[in-house]
Amino acid sequence: MTLPVAVLVSGSGSNLQAVIDRIESGAIDARVTVVVSNKPDAYALTRARNHGIPTCLLPHGDYPDRAAYDAALLAAVRDSGAEAVLLAGFLRILGAPFVAAYRDRIVNIHPALLPSFPGIRGQGDAAAYGVTLAGATVHFVDEKMDNGPIIIQAAVPALPDDGAATLGARILRLEHRICPQALAWLAAGRLTIEGRKTRLAPADVPPADTSDTAPCLVNPPLEAGF
Ligand code: GRF
Repeated sequence: MTLPVAVLVSGSGSNLQAVIDRIESGAIDARVTVVVSNKPDAYALTRARNHGIPTCLLPHGDYPDRAAYDAALLAAVRDSGAEAVLLAGFLRILGAPFVAAYRDRIVNIHPALLPSFPGIRGQGDAAAYGVTLAGATVHFVDEKMDNGPIIIQAAVPALPDDGAATLGARILRLEHRICPQALAWLAAGRLTIEGRKTRLAPADVPPADTSDTAPCLVNPPLEAGF
């Protein structure tokens, strides 16, 4: 059954676009019920409108406190009919009531190999630290920031001259593969959470052609369509 999913954004929405494209290609059995932004100038809102997807602007400055904002956010997501939530560059922490309402059905894309470099400057922090491998993580969301069970990770080389921008661009290319892939697995009911671990049920799907992602490593491996 097609999964109704709300997508929360704050910025350009390139991950949202990657998801929309895979839904339209038939690789993800999901429907975006609403795109919610906390930023009025988020280009993600334009991307949504271009595809006839309802949008909702909720500037956090309009609310007296986090609880009020969270309640409005939850109402917008619920009213859209969403049964799952994708955080695609949403730069706000969800409150406990929101997480409880959609427990084990909220997924976030983070531009670092968690548990290293949580927070909003993952790419820059990794570049400054001098790691030689960086990457991205798609994970379930719990009450703590960038903390829930990991679904899929992609590792990319980090180079001595990298800064946030160059390393971030290398990571973002892989985000556009693993974010839609994780949503497809969720929509297909193939993900089971076991404590800190996520188990992916096998399926009769051929592997993706990943020749264009070398020298990156993605695990679990991408499947056809991603
Ligand atoms: C991505 O790097 C994502 O990992 C991070 O914010 C960025 C959003 O990019 N959380 P976009 O809005 O999807 O283009």
